[in-house]
Amino acid sequence: MKKILVTGCLGQIGSELVMRMREIYGTENVIATDIRRVDGNIVIESGPFEILDVMDYEAMLNMAKKYQVDTFIHLAALLSAVAEKKTKLAWDLNMGGLVNALEVARELKLKFFTPSSIGSFGPGTPQDLTPQDTIQRPTTMYGVTKVAGELLCDYYFTKFGVDTRGVRFPGLISYKTLPGGGTTDYAVDIYYEALKNKKYTSFIGKGTYMDMMYMPDAIDAIIKLMEADPAKLKHRNAFNITAMSFEPEQIAASIRKFIPEFEMDYDVDPVRQGIANSWPNSLDASAAYQEWDFNPQYDLDRMTKDMLENLSKKLGIPFKAKELVSA
Ligand code: SER
Repeated sequence: MKKILVTGCLGQIGSELVMRMREIYGTENVIATDIRRVDGNIVIESGPFEILDVMDYEAMLNMAKKYQVDTFIHLAALLSAVAEKKTKLAWDLNMGGLVNALEVARELKLKFFTPSSIGSFGPGTPQDLTPQDTIQRPTTMYGVTKVAGELLCDYYFTKFGVDTRGVRFPGLISYKTLPGGGTTDYAVDIYYEALKNKKYTSFIGKGTYMDMMYMPDAIDAIIKLMEADPAKLKHRNAFNITAMSFEPEQIAASIRKFIPEFEMDYDVDPVRQGIANSWPNSLDASAAYQEWDFNPQYDLDRMTKDMLENLSKKLGIPFKAKELVSA
């Protein structure tokens, strides 16, 4: 990767990926795009930024040509809970944007990354240690677009030789940018509320296990996969990855190690609970370990400590984490 175009760069992943790649590849070599401009945003202020609607193929092609990029990272998409409400828009944006991006990659011979998700699985998938290659019959619009996206990326690889690569992200937890309407967002919200109110009402029910990962590991995974030797990749779209699997009581217990008075209760949202129930409890990420040295660093307690420390600075709420015995 030498010159990289990123769509959806103001989202939860894009805002951190762009900044990290600018450190590694040089500020001028990472072209950030999004459909909107936000005044004072660090991604916009710190390097090249352009407005780009991913539904506009010509604009996308011209942007990639203008900057002579060699890599395309396509992140613009709706997340699961929003996609269940806006089904037509989810299809149009998630699939229309992706096929436009793949066409640009084909035309200009670009290396290509787009994320898939645990949402690409469904109720018929083995739920524990979900294998890399298994049944994918999702029952959400988000999942339908993700599994179709995986197939489309593999199609562009086998048919046209486009170097497409992808991962199935679990829930991503970060303190810099909020996720935009996902099912796993409870595991982000809980840290904000723990600091602000020492109390959280979870919209995901007790005992609901989902895979999760801290954002630094997710960013590292994208860069590692994109830099991996193609000869070693038996899979392409997309690799199972995960760093931890937990249910709400476990993340609450982790927070209590730092904020002992923290309390949690439940007000389960049937839509998001239904989505969560259709997803795996835990993924088997062994193909990612074997084929491109996936190596996450954060477990639940280490992530909790880092989240609380950084959010306390961001929110201006004093918090002093004691050293973890197990950390
Ligand atoms: N975090 C995403 C969501 O909940 C899953 O890919 O929609």
